[in-house]
Amino acid sequence: MRRLWTLALALLLGIGVTAPAQAAVQSRPAIINGSPSAPGTHGYLAALLDTARYNLKGTFQAQICGGSLTTPTTVVTAAHCVVDQNSGVTSTPASLLIGLGRSSLQDSGMRVVAISAIAVHPGYSIKTGDDDVAVLTLVAPQTDIATIAPAQLTDGVTTEAAGTRVQVAGWGTTSNFGNSFPDVFRTGDLTLLPASACGQGQNTVLSGLTFLAYNAGEANPLTMLCAVGVSPTGTIIDSCRGDSGGPLIAGDGADARLLGIVSWGLNCATRHPGVYTRVTAMADFLKATGALGGSAPPEILVTPLHERLRIQFPARGTNLNATTFTATLAESTAAEPRQCSAAPVGNGLAASCDITGLVNGTEYRVTAVATGTAGVSVPSTVVAATPLAVPDAGRITGVKVTGKRAVFTVARSTGNGAEITATRIACLPLAGGPGRSAKVILKRATLRSLPPASYACAVTARSEVGTARGAETLLTIPG
Ligand code: ARG
Repeated sequence: MRRLWTLALALLLGIGVTAPAQAAVQSRPAIINGSPSAPGTHGYLAALLDTARYNLKGTFQAQICGGSLTTPTTVVTAAHCVVDQNSGVTSTPASLLIGLGRSSLQDSGMRVVAISAIAVHPGYSIKTGDDDVAVLTLVAPQTDIATIAPAQLTDGVTTEAAGTRVQVAGWGTTSNFGNSFPDVFRTGDLTLLPASACGQGQNTVLSGLTFLAYNAGEANPLTMLCAVGVSPTGTIIDSCRGDSGGPLIAGDGADARLLGIVSWGLNCATRHPGVYTRVTAMADFLKATGALGGSAPPEILVTPLHERLRIQFPARGTNLNATTFTATLAESTAAEPRQCSAAPVGNGLAASCDITGLVNGTEYRVTAVATGTAGVSVPSTVVAATPLAVPDAGRITGVKVTGKRAVFTVARSTGNGAEITATRIACLPLAGGPGRSAKVILKRATLRSLPPASYACAVTARSEVGTARGAETLLTIPG
């Protein structure tokens, strides 16, 4: 079945580039011309699996892409692995699984983990291949498996200089046009090419071989890195079909960083280098999705109420590690923080809390963080909301008393932004005791058989925010 995928993926190869007349293909089985993985290395390498195929045929036949475990709950892969290249529709979390912890796809010890959320970079373009990155959130933290930190320009070890030695790893095909998919992932030693060869049209020479540049409009040096390898015997080393989404790694041990994501190329192991998503340029997205560590920011839903705002934290995969959500008003001062906290609720229910003591009609800005085992998340987006006023009650414009019957005419409430759910006339005996009330229909209400007494009558208007009682009109039913 990986053969079928091969056909589909082969179509992806030309994305964003005008295919040149068949470039000279250097390749031998080669990733292409790579080596089998050394045991115990690249523990963060994840296999992206098609759920339906996995259920029918197992891990090996289900593998469609690679990925990297960057935190116990996040796998970074390529957007093109999870976005249908024809419809632009993103895969559902249920349609994909993540295989972890084994170098061999056929190893029954491979751990297969479900996905709770898929986030695709908002800038991802099927047409240009820009921002080819997605973050998959696992349903449960995999704390016993090695992770790799995404490269950041500020981390003190990352360099994207031409000539930097990097490595690619994956279960992709080892031959350009055949279907020799390995069972144990392979690695290839590559060299980063200069940006001038990766979207600026200047060919470059590596180990005596000239590699053909991508022009502007083919590759974007701001969002992509180009890399390729030449083996000691002069064969070209490159990633290929099935390696997509997998890691381009720089540095060793504690300095190892996810520098790139296998994205595209013109065929494989040709004089056209492989193209990788430039991870340092994806930092905002990786941070927002929790893939840089810390927990992802919570999503918030703010409902304005009477003198308060209700903040809901919908239960989400990305907040799995959260133990507390805290919402804070941007208007807070350090001396007087205005905030509220809630513990997450399981089973898809949303946690919520109210920030109280607010002024109706005033706009406030709310932001929230999730706190959990991984520390404090980055803040959520800011949501502005205005606590509602209780409705103005409306007023009595006329009363006509006939015997024990009183007919009221009423000017109704405007609601002050909240929908009025009931308007009534309520009359309370001045001497105390039970009152009487009647629903206002259109602009009229009638109270019948009123016991002789004096009453204070008023309009009451109810909304979700509260009930208001308007100015009183005195009424006497003679005895
Ligand atoms: N798009 C391919 C995939 O889906 C990866 C291609 C990488 N090509 C290359 N020449 N480096 O697996």
